[in-house]
Amino acid sequence: MRVLTLNPGSPSMKVSLVADGTAVGWTAWDLADPGAVAQSIRRWSDVDAIAVRFVHGGEQKAPANCSQASNNSPRWPEPPAAVAGGAPDVPVVACFDTAFHAEMPEVPTTRSGGRLQRGGQATKVPRQVDERRYPGRRRNRSVGDAPRSGKDLPPLAVIAANRLIGSSIVEGAAMAGDWTKTETEVLVQSMTRAPSVHNLQPWLLDIGPDELVVRERTELRLPQHDPLGRDRAASCGAAVANLEVAVRTLGRAPGVELLPDPARPDVVARIAAGTAAAPTAADLHRFGAIARRASHRAPFEDAPVPAVALRLIGETGAVPGVEARLVRPGREVAVVARLLHVAAEHFKADGAYQRELSLWTIRDEQAHRHGVGLPASRVPAGSVPWAGLIRRATELPDTAEIEARLAAESLLVFVTADDTRADHVRAGYAMERAWLTAVDLGLVAAVLTQPLHLEPIRAALRADLTLSGFPQVLMRVGYSSEPDPAGPRRAVEEVLHQP
Ligand SMILES: Cc1cc2nc3c(=O)[nH]c(=O)nc-3n(C[C@H](O)[C@H](O)[C@H](O)COP(=O)(O)O)c2cc1C
Repeated sequence: MRVLTLNPGSPSMKVSLVADGTAVGWTAWDLADPGAVAQSIRRWSDVDAIAVRFVHGGEQKAPANCSQASNNSPRWPEPPAAVAGGAPDVPVVACFDTAFHAEMPEVPTTRSGGRLQRGGQATKVPRQVDERRYPGRRRNRSVGDAPRSGKDLPPLAVIAANRLIGSSIVEGAAMAGDWTKTETEVLVQSMTRAPSVHNLQPWLLDIGPDELVVRERTELRLPQHDPLGRDRAASCGAAVANLEVAVRTLGRAPGVELLPDPARPDVVARIAAGTAAAPTAADLHRFGAIARRASHRAPFEDAPVPAVALRLIGETGAVPGVEARLVRPGREVAVVARLLHVAAEHFKADGAYQRELSLWTIRDEQAHRHGVGLPASRVPAGSVPWAGLIRRATELPDTAEIEARLAAESLLVFVTADDTRADHVRAGYAMERAWLTAVDLGLVAAVLTQPLHLEPIRAALRADLTLSGFPQVLMRVGYSSEPDPAGPRRAVEEVLHQP
């Protein structure tokens, strides 16, 4: 049975496709888009039922016929009519979520005039940071633990706490306005820890009092690996995702606008950060994951990722315009295995490609000072699909073996509706959100875009998996008890511009 679940929130509507109890696809639409419901229903038209989440403060818990429901969300007042209009023959069920209201603190805490105050408008504040009931096994450290090395991020939960209850507020300093030196460091380091194609870090950050601007360094090119700059734009999207989490953790509400100015195409995002707001527990968890995330180019442990963890990863990777979709076991995994094999054969034999990859590989890791590129130890020749980047020496097993290896893993594909630069930025943004969730759940991941740069491979993937749009990134997810060391990064002053 295939059920389409609609979860209207603010500012997007999250959509999942659940097949026989397992979520196999996620996407999100902007709630302001009047066609959002119709688009979701069109994307996954072949469903047996539609379930709509209603945030609800009452007693009703059992699902009900949607026409009897009254939604509390002012952002989406007419869901039954919209859904029924989009799929008149499909049963629509209202599912009541009473947990949201149950978690509200009895005495809401809000800030006003630079001081903590009791009462007033209800604001959700985190009551505990590291006791969230996440599924899966938590092997990694939680928020507030000591950072991985002295060079890593400062103890961020402490900074967040300072923002909320610390001296600056008590002394009456404005929440908005200039960033402190430590906060600036947090912002830049959060950004530079984002994944980027060949570890290029193709971004610059302008920090203003109430606004951050992320610019793409389009002069950095990988003509063989990324001839169209798709991965470079996606890398900037990933950096924006990290910055957004950092801004939240520092106690401000970020307003992210991607590609805000057509006259300035290098500006990838503008992040307004003027309004004070308490970070949620989820923000702090995601923030803790930034320093722990690293590409895992190796086999995973022999343990399946629970379906509920995959669902959470997929949900955070579903942002408006991007679908995060599970590659289903069986036929779909076989398709991917065959395509990876063909792509690997191509790249192994492509001299120009191999020369470029070699140029970006850091062989003398001790002597290296530039903070960019791929340390040889982090991209071993390895074997498919674990190698991540195909080298001449990469072992290439037959398709059946690659299929068996993939079948033991969990694989997601990030799909965008169109294939414009905005789609590439969004795909990277969605990918990093999903990756941080995976890390927070105690998982590790690696992404593959290399095969997708061969147009016939990309087209075949799109057709054979009947994808709803353009595949941008493949993500492998699994468990590992071995931490992946952090790769090198550019110095702060190379990235930061402060007027
Ligand atoms: C858009 C994008 C595409 C990437 N493509 C690949 C890829 O095809 N193969 C691979 O092994 N890693 C790929 N990566 C991972 C980067 O190489 C990695 O993020 C970078 O080297 C930094 O290392 P870290 O992820 O361990 O921090 C990609 C990353 C991004 C953001």
